Amino acid sequence: MKRILTGDRPTADKFHLGNYIGKLKNTVKLQDQYETFVPLVDLHALTTYFDQTEKLEANMKSLGLDYLSVGLDPNKTTIFIQSKVPEIVEIAYFLSVLTPRSIIARQPALKEKLDAGEQDTVGLFYYPILMAADILTFKANLVPVGKDQKAHVEFARDIAKKFNDLYGEVFILPEPLIGEVPTLPGTDGQTKMGKSLGNAIFLTDSPEEVEKKVMSMYTDPTRIHPTDPGHVEGNPVFIYLDAFGSEADKPQTTNYKLLYQKGQVGDIEVKKYLVKVLNNFLDPIRQRRDELEKEPGLVERILKEGTEKARIEAQKTLAEVKKAMKLDYF
Ligand code: TRP
Repeated sequence: MKRILTGDRPTADKFHLGNYIGKLKNTVKLQDQYETFVPLVDLHALTTYFDQTEKLEANMKSLGLDYLSVGLDPNKTTIFIQSKVPEIVEIAYFLSVLTPRSIIARQPALKEKLDAGEQDTVGLFYYPILMAADILTFKANLVPVGKDQKAHVEFARDIAKKFNDLYGEVFILPEPLIGEVPTLPGTDGQTKMGKSLGNAIFLTDSPEEVEKKVMSMYTDPTRIHPTDPGHVEGNPVFIYLDAFGSEADKPQTTNYKLLYQKGQVGDIEVKKYLVKVLNNFLDPIRQRRDELEKEPGLVERILKEGTEKARIEAQKTLAEVKKAMKLDYF
């Protein structure tokens, strides 16, 4: 069976709609066809979160609950904690000796983080190597990620090939899988929804919070009166409708698009419709979360069991790596 792996940094305690549409949705859908691994990558979180380590445990429990609420099934998907699988770090080291410094130095994601004021540490520099190790340790064929992470998966592929060419076939060459909406805009119309940007709708938001956020959403800045012809393209309200509307919502969405372009429907009416669509989408997720929350210790147990399973896989790969490198001394 082919494999999928994708991870999340526990620098937050909840996912937003952008996380969902960018990759969670794909992961949930594909878990039936692929053996699926989902690490909570606390070691990656440390690169920017080393001064907030006391939050990691609670964040991981909460994200674990979100995983289950959106439909990741622990019988199909191995959810685990990265730092509890130290073999990954060892494999990362072996990859690091094959990695030209210049390739990492050129990674756009690194530049972005430094521009955003992150400290220029060796750990941050090492980020792509550790991520490659996550992917390669579990021999993932496919890596669901947001668009911004594509280069990292390509790096993992290149370094896997280099290793295989040098020492023999150990690693699978992974491919990125980008979600149907590669970058979901924020409620403020900025290109990207982000927790720290204050423009996110969270999976855990209440119906009232969703309503409040949607009713003050950015729409078409060129449209002043409801009778002005409006733009649908690039308008977050319509992007959300397309992304989160069910099959049954499609005709109404199409209808609103036409009316909007002709200046025959106001923003408020379309937004009210979006509130309904989003709450219909979120309701089952909320319900599941409420139910799961009633079972104390559930997430911990799932993470523990997942970690045990992940560890066995990682030990296997590490043994293969050492054998291929002729480091399997007496
Ligand atoms: N870098 C990813 C992010 O910021 C998180 C991550 C770490 C990851 N290891 C991974 C994603 C392996 C996919 C596969 O979102």
